[in-house]
Amino acid sequence: MKTSRRLSLFACVAVALAACSSSSPKPSATATESPQSGSGTGAIAIGIGVAQTSNVALLGQEEVAGAKIAEKYFNDQGGINGTPVKLVFQDTGGDEQGAINAFQTLITQNKVVGIVGPTLSQQAFSANPIADRAKVPVIGPSNTAKGIPEIGEYIARVSAPVSVVAPNSVKAALKINPNIKKVAVLYAQNDAFSKSETEIFQQTVQEQALDIVTVQKFQTTDTDFQTQATTAINLKPDLVIISGLAADGGNLVRQLRELGYKGLIIGGNGLNTSNLFPVCKALCDGVLIAQAYSPEQPGKINKAFREAYLSQFKKEPPQFSAQTFAGVQVFVEALQEIDQRSQVAQKPLPELRVALNQQLLKGKYATPLGEISFTPEGEIIQKEFYVAQIKMEPDGNNGKFAFLK
Ligand code: ALA
Repeated sequence: MKTSRRLSLFACVAVALAACSSSSPKPSATATESPQSGSGTGAIAIGIGVAQTSNVALLGQEEVAGAKIAEKYFNDQGGINGTPVKLVFQDTGGDEQGAINAFQTLITQNKVVGIVGPTLSQQAFSANPIADRAKVPVIGPSNTAKGIPEIGEYIARVSAPVSVVAPNSVKAALKINPNIKKVAVLYAQNDAFSKSETEIFQQTVQEQALDIVTVQKFQTTDTDFQTQATTAINLKPDLVIISGLAADGGNLVRQLRELGYKGLIIGGNGLNTSNLFPVCKALCDGVLIAQAYSPEQPGKINKAFREAYLSQFKKEPPQFSAQTFAGVQVFVEALQEIDQRSQVAQKPLPELRVALNQQLLKGKYATPLGEISFTPEGEIIQKEFYVAQIKMEPDGNNGKFAFLK
């Protein structure tokens, strides 16, 4: 009920956007099973299947924001050579079944050409095989666990993997404090991404000849971390590294500080959101998080994206919004390429989905993340990475990610 009301609202917004577009849309195709048949608006439907509810929406909300900015941006530029795109949103919630249901609806009812989603790797391992079997291209906007593109031929991602991103924050911590020797590692054992990320963190720590004094496990649903935090603190670490999601991660940071831990903390990719700030407030201060996006990225498209985000949200755009913008962009630009050869609006949907998957893997894209492309397997090739440190105002109500030089 809730979903369908929200959907029709989005559809109205999308129709309005398309109508406001400066382009003159091509006449819509009449064939059933054409790419527009799911939308009924003469627009090409792209699915966005991310978490709009549950704790995972702390990340997913930022993805919705990035997707909507992309929809307006590309439709203002004329969409697919004159045909607008329409994003169809389905809420996955925070679990696997929610992602499966959202993907099935997008594929069979909304008849999208491709899907940007889901939010979590944990969800991707369950939902992506369904899209893969249906030959519907999927672009992961935030799935960073090892093995995501390998799920299938139709699966790619714009979210650089843990192996590429996570080591940067350990190196940054050593630059800030070259005397780090003892490291405590904590991770969410019920989450595929957290398990994958902690492996990379632990490997990096060993490569830097540091000692892992303890590895503590928790669940993403936990709120009480007294046992793990006390065990870690008693071993006197100089650095604590957390792989979890925003709600649990934020609570863990808070409890470590409340129990007296004073050293550096690294948060992994699941903590990379300002939605962490209300959880750990002033105690979020100083947390280091590696970034696959910087608002300062100098490209033209990032300037447009950053301006749109700033004017709407009055703060700098976060990584998950930029990555989701990039995911939509890849679909749009690949569709534009296909359309140069034969009009996408005329292609039967199954054929277009296959062509779209082939095309998107071949392209180079100047995105807010910088220039990206894909390996034949669908893994992102990206050059620019950063590390930021959370700076909270003393009242704990406001904060920002300060990028390290
Ligand atoms: N990077 C996190 C994941 O892959 C959000 O699940």
